[in-house]
Amino acid sequence: MKILVVGSGGREHAIAWRLAQDAERHQLFCAPGNAGTRAVATNVDLKAEDITGIVAWAKAERPDLVVVGPEAPLVAGLVDALAAEGIVAFGPVAAGARLEGSKRFAKEVMDAAGVPTGKAQTFTDAVAAKAALADYGLPVVVKADGLAAGKGVIVAETRADAEAAIDDMLVANKFGAAGAEVLLEEFLHGEECSILALVDGERAVLLPSSQDHKRVFDGDKGPNTGGMGAYSPAPVITSDKLPLIRDRIILPVVRELKRRGITYRGILYAGLMVNDENSNPHGPLAKSGSTVNVVEFNARFGDPETEAVLPRLGGSFATALLHAATGCLSDADVVVRDESAATVIIASGGYPGGYEKGKEISGLGGEMPNAIVFHCGTRAEGDRVLTAGGRVLSVTGIGATLREAVDRAYAAVGRISFEKSFHRSDIAHRAFERD
Ligand code: AMP
Ligand code: GLY
Repeated sequence: MKILVVGSGGREHAIAWRLAQDAERHQLFCAPGNAGTRAVATNVDLKAEDITGIVAWAKAERPDLVVVGPEAPLVAGLVDALAAEGIVAFGPVAAGARLEGSKRFAKEVMDAAGVPTGKAQTFTDAVAAKAALADYGLPVVVKADGLAAGKGVIVAETRADAEAAIDDMLVANKFGAAGAEVLLEEFLHGEECSILALVDGERAVLLPSSQDHKRVFDGDKGPNTGGMGAYSPAPVITSDKLPLIRDRIILPVVRELKRRGITYRGILYAGLMVNDENSNPHGPLAKSGSTVNVVEFNARFGDPETEAVLPRLGGSFATALLHAATGCLSDADVVVRDESAATVIIASGGYPGGYEKGKEISGLGGEMPNAIVFHCGTRAEGDRVLTAGGRVLSVTGIGATLREAVDRAYAAVGRISFEKSFHRSDIAHRAFERD
């Protein structure tokens, strides 16, 4: 197949890399890609948000499939625009991507579909929002409705913090249009994890479970990031929960969207809070009464979850994506290897705040047994590879056990260096704490 992957991060490198592992030989392109995707694909000099440019490229090149990585082009309608030209694309149409683009819309769909999630209300008026705080107790979660690059969620421990977050969004307009509506949401106790489901408009097949590490420092300290590491499987998702997640969360949402005239195809990523005797920590049960609640939906593969999940998939990945994109997905499309994967992000000093770019990366060459180095924020300059983002590399180790996978990831991380780099050294700690 001729396939274009849209995006430039570790997720897109992992998607292109996994497509390159298929037994069929694909012709792969990545727009814009990074220094790592060059090894498996031809980079095309078009930004992921350049819908006009990508559609023009696709009209000229006629790929069999376009796989859209990031949320911004999905929300902006890239899949709709490609479909209008008869080009098959993996990812939801804009109306479906609103599940990620508008938290209020996601709550409406979940309520209509009876999906367990935190109790929430939406406000446009700061006075009314503050008055409603009394109904929520503490902590309370204050969320901007729209896309805010991961910064629009404040878990407020005090009423004053909650009021300040409401003022930031509704009065000071700090999040622009994304914060013009604000959700107050019940705080959910428990352990977070991710389920990525392949969806074809009607059917859904769950990919292996995973857990990411959102805080910047060891011990889950410091500010939130895009994710500092991940591992798969996540033992908090015991096998008895999988039918519940598919039949009470994923499929009801897909059906509710269909009822609204939206055929959802692509990845439906459920960020879940699990609160049972297996979770670490656990606390009072949510008002929904369910042990598994939805924290958020994303309309795409997670990053860095993808870098831990995709190496565990067997079979033809291109066929699975094509079947989802064309409405003929079956359970047989997803083959999961019985092994573990752990991904460690190597980041630029200062991230998620300000950081420097353009540092030369050394140690990328040579054999790294059972480890794969995905590039997140890099660019090539001649033979040199330079840092070009906050999250720079995503190093995945594979093993028969999670311990082996983690050790292999860190062995590879130890060989790579650039000025002011840092990484977390406790990836998968929640899984080990339960052993
Ligand atoms: P979101 O963008 O909605 O995923 O929120 C970002 C992060 O905030 C989540 O990954 C959680 O760690 C936290 N969070 C969001 N909503 C809640 C909630 N209702 N209860 C507890 N933590 C939450
Ligand atoms: N790892 C979290 C996300 O992709 O949204």
